[in-house]
Parts: sequence; structure tokens; C-alpha cells
Amino acid sequence: MTGPESEGSQVRRAVCPGSFDPITNGHLDIIARASRLYDEVYVAVMINKSKKGLFEIDERIELIRTVTADYGNVRVEAFHGLLVDFCKQRDIPAIVKGLRAVSDFDYELQMAQMNNGLSGVETLFVPTNPTYSFLSSSLVKEVAQWGGDIAHLVPPAVLEALNKRLGKD
Ligand code: PNS
Repeated sequence: MTGPESEGSQVRRAVCPGSFDPITNGHLDIIARASRLYDEVYVAVMINKSKKGLFEIDERIELIRTVTADYGNVRVEAFHGLLVDFCKQRDIPAIVKGLRAVSDFDYELQMAQMNNGLSGVETLFVPTNPTYSFLSSSLVKEVAQWGGDIAHLVPPAVLEALNKRLGKD
């Protein structure tokens, strides 16, 4: 079959990639919005062997699964190597990324153009909710480390995990 009917029957997939060490409300907002736009959303957690995170990859994945459990169309997987290969293996034509500020744009544009040139995968930029435009996993960890209140910046399961990991509970 050709034409709109056959196109309409295709599953529309996208990926939200990142380090997620740990997932924040900013990430979650982007994933939630992607999950409303696409049939299936993969959250791809990058394995970076040269950079030890606060949380192991399995812990990050478990936290993301917990906080996205209600969405119904979100799958969480680890990956290493090129993101475009992750996309190719799963027939994913689109990467969804949040843009917090103009300062994100330069590098994100480079990656989007590189990824498109490598495999034709498209990158869709979603403007971050202004409530979270200053938010990053690194800042959350730093503030939590020094006892600052981050309860409004991460989901409750992440707050609990952070407090436990940092010996604050
Ligand atoms: O949360 P982060 O650390 O900002 O996410 C960065 C990430 C994982 C999206 C980016 O580093 C990435 O896509 N890495 C995979 C390796 C790759 O494909 N590199 C070429 C990008 S052009």
C-alpha cells in the first residue's frame, strides 16, 4: 500500500539521549512532551567509560523507568558508541533535544548537523520550560552535595536516591 494510509500505519519513534546522571525535572519535561508527540520514545542513556558518574548506568536507567512509568510509551536503554547507530538499529528517525538557552545552541547545532550528515536522522529542538532553563544534572548534584534544597528540581525518587548516595538521609 502507498500513500497516506500506509504512512499513517507506521510507528513514529523518537529518541531522547543523554547522560541522565541523574534525570532532572528538566529532562522529564522534554521526555513527557516527546511522549505526547510520538508513538514510541526511547530514552537512550549514554555509557561513557572515561567519565565516572555519581550513579551507575543501571541505577540511572532504573530511576528513569520509575519516573516515566506512567507515560506508557517510553522505553529506556543504555547505549555506547554513536547515537546514529542506536537510531539505525531501532528504526528511529528523530532525536528530540531540549534547548535551555542560546548557549546550548552552538554545540547542539553541530551535533544535529553531524548526525544528519552521518545518517539522515533529524534533530528536533524543544524549548525548555523556563522553570527549568537553568537546570542541569551537574548543578543539582553540586547543590545537593552542599545541603541545598533541590526537592523542586528532581522527581521524588531521584531526590531519595541522591540523598542516599550523598549520605544526606
Ligand atoms: O546529557 P549529555 O551528556 O549532554 O548528552 C550528550 C549526548 C549523549 C546526547 C551526546 O554526547 C551523544 O549523542 N553522544 C553519543 C556519541 C555520538 O553519537 N557522538 C557524535 C555526536 S555528533
